[in-house]
Amino acid sequence: MTPSPYIKPYLQTPGPTPIPPEVSQAMAYPVVYHRAPAFVPIYAAALENLKKVFDTQNDVLCFAGSGTAGMDSAFANLVQPGDKVLVTSAGKFGERWRDLAEAYEADYVYLDVEWGTQIDPAEVDRALTENPGIELVYTTFSETSTGVVHDVKSIAEVAHKHGALIIVDAISGLGAGELHQDAWGLDVVVSGSQKALMLPPGMGFASPNEQALARAAAKPQGRFFLDWNRTSKGQKKDPPDSPFTPPVNLFMALGKALDMILEEGLENVYDRHRLLGRAARAAMKAQGLEIFGLDAEEAAVVTAVTIPDSVDGNQVTKVMRDKYGITIAGGQSQLKGKIFRIAHCGYFGPFDIITVVSAVELTLKELGADIELGAGVAAAMNVFADAGVPVNA
Ligand SMILES: Cc1ncc(COP(=O)(O)O)c(C=O)c1O
Repeated sequence: MTPSPYIKPYLQTPGPTPIPPEVSQAMAYPVVYHRAPAFVPIYAAALENLKKVFDTQNDVLCFAGSGTAGMDSAFANLVQPGDKVLVTSAGKFGERWRDLAEAYEADYVYLDVEWGTQIDPAEVDRALTENPGIELVYTTFSETSTGVVHDVKSIAEVAHKHGALIIVDAISGLGAGELHQDAWGLDVVVSGSQKALMLPPGMGFASPNEQALARAAAKPQGRFFLDWNRTSKGQKKDPPDSPFTPPVNLFMALGKALDMILEEGLENVYDRHRLLGRAARAAMKAQGLEIFGLDAEEAAVVTAVTIPDSVDGNQVTKVMRDKYGITIAGGQSQLKGKIFRIAHCGYFGPFDIITVVSAVELTLKELGADIELGAGVAAAMNVFADAGVPVNA
């Protein structure tokens, strides 16, 4: 067969993720002036609905930028050189907190746990006991590089016991894994647009509570664009107003995406993600493949899979993309060539999982693994059949 010059592309990475056609359409609306009557209600509604997804009464502050803008803001606003902080890390994005701690010259303690394992709240407790005076704890909800979802609720309890504020990176997890900012006592949650929120890249979020805003206000120097109180003041106005030109078309998209999420219902959204994770894991295990990291229901964001030794690990994502048109993520840093990752955060449904599983089977077989074509697909289908519910997306 002659190779086709066109292969239908499928985006199956944990960010950017595919976006619903309705969201693309909303974004295609002509650009409007950000203080025009055509935009203000869209902006106001998006700000209100964002709070529902964070499950918070705090304002969710929006920054044009990527998710890292949200993370950066959580250092720029809270940390002055020499401030004592604890950084927990179990992967590539925990390392980003450490890099920020370096950049902002924090006096930081680094709790570095093995990639693929969960951060143990007891270890956080020990680190805080051994290092009195720590005022801030930075941690990760969904560690996208390993697929592990961390127990940020328990970590928050420990941080508060020691009088520290907790800052959570929920960039890939928000809107995929169950998270309740206020009920869990998370002082700041940061996120980004291009994952489970079903939007293109371009927005970073941070939702500081009053204590975090007060700490920021007490240390007002060393930032401008990412200043929480400046953005908060604008967003609190009636009608709300951004201190800088907001990405208006992304807000139109955000409005639509949030409507879709809330119409599906957050509990259903979480259930859908759990179901997709369950199916992905069942499919991989049916092929005798090992789940890297967390083989558990809460691993609902991305499934990381260990590449068998018999396979050239660097070829997996390449064959998937070049031969089958499916872009999945490989491993990062020390996991490069060792794992691949099946994303299921955001606009994903059962047939996305079945599609990617079938291409994984074809790819691994071609690369020499012992694969029985269809066994993983059947396992995933059985998970969906057993669930017995129609699934959105
Ligand atoms: C958990 C986590 N934190 C931080 C980031 C960085 O976000 P961005 O690339 O949008 O700046 C990502 C992106 O993959 C992520 O998954």
